[in-house]
Amino acid sequence: MTLASVFPHPIIQGPTAGGNNTPAQVAAVSNAGALGSLACSLLSPTAIREQTAQIRALTDHPFCLNFFVLQTPDPSPEEVEQAKAWLQPVWSSLGWAELPTPAKWCEDFSAQFETLLALRPAVASFTFGILSAEQIRRLHDAGVFVIGTITHVEEALAWERRGADAVIASGVESGGHRGTFIGAQEEATLTTFELLPLVVAAVTIPVISAGGIMDGADIKRALDGGAQAVQMGTAFLVSDESGIHPAYKQRLLAAGNHPTRLTRTFSGRYARGLENRFMQLMAANELLLPPYPVQNALTSPIRAEAARRGETELMSLWCGTGVARVRPMPAAKLVETLLAEISAT
Ligand SMILES: Cc1cc2nc3c(=O)[nH]c(=O)nc-3n(C[C@H](O)[C@H](O)[C@H](O)COP(=O)(O)O)c2cc1C
Repeated sequence: MTLASVFPHPIIQGPTAGGNNTPAQVAAVSNAGALGSLACSLLSPTAIREQTAQIRALTDHPFCLNFFVLQTPDPSPEEVEQAKAWLQPVWSSLGWAELPTPAKWCEDFSAQFETLLALRPAVASFTFGILSAEQIRRLHDAGVFVIGTITHVEEALAWERRGADAVIASGVESGGHRGTFIGAQEEATLTTFELLPLVVAAVTIPVISAGGIMDGADIKRALDGGAQAVQMGTAFLVSDESGIHPAYKQRLLAAGNHPTRLTRTFSGRYARGLENRFMQLMAANELLLPPYPVQNALTSPIRAEAARRGETELMSLWCGTGVARVRPMPAAKLVETLLAEISAT
């Protein structure tokens, strides 16, 4: 099946968990003929149902629900105490006497998956892991088009063998978390346009290119390189419907040459964002910190307090290397602009 038979224009608004991609944004993109995606990984089943209902009230077009494939961890009390101690330079700088232990480490993926099946969106995409062939079969039985995120060829082949309908080939320029699930995250370093031809040559299912794609010329280059569509995260973070914190949006709009970098300090999984004081305070122990989602849950109250204070130096400012080229406008207008640029290129 081609992607064009699922949604007309070759643009996916990337799901942005924690970047607050709203139902209004998803619907605006889908109504414009591209594919809007809702990041569901941090949402409870009830919230997923509510937000999906909000999308459906705004559009009849296909949209995508997106999930992290995760197992709920069970860290020992000693590991948790050690991780809190490593975070002390950050939480004590907020004037706190201690860091609270979260009530839970993450949402239960199997409950989210059952919710997804019941909701039957046109498309579902996944990252951080791979579904079983049985889970993919159940999604297909529910009429859902299944997309896996990959960072190297072996992962693309794994999703294809399991029965996925398409893969998102995410280059190292991408904003947010690396999706790597085979091998070390720090070894998945291929750029978007290094990765694309390798994946196109390796699999027969459609390939979606992601990472640093900011305008119509970038999209054209990806399509010419064999991609059937692109996925853009950073470009949509500054759209009018994006729900990100105003101070975060301001940092993106003013990013210029400010460096982005991959860090595991916020969440325990490598993710790309604007370099800031949080990363510097945590750099010494970066490689020792517990893996996602434990570190992510532990830093959640810190990030929430920093957001409350508008203190961007302690917030996660996820974005890709293309951030200097963001253009604030309504999401539908961005889709329209990109399509005009593709035609003009
Ligand atoms: C703030 C932020 C949050 C993200 N959250 C998710 C997510 O929840 N699920 C996912 O599959 N990809 C996520 N991504 C990746 C995007 O969907 C997209 O693939 C990526 O941003 C593409 O690179 P670009 O930012 O250079 O456009 C996120 C990216 C950003 C910037």
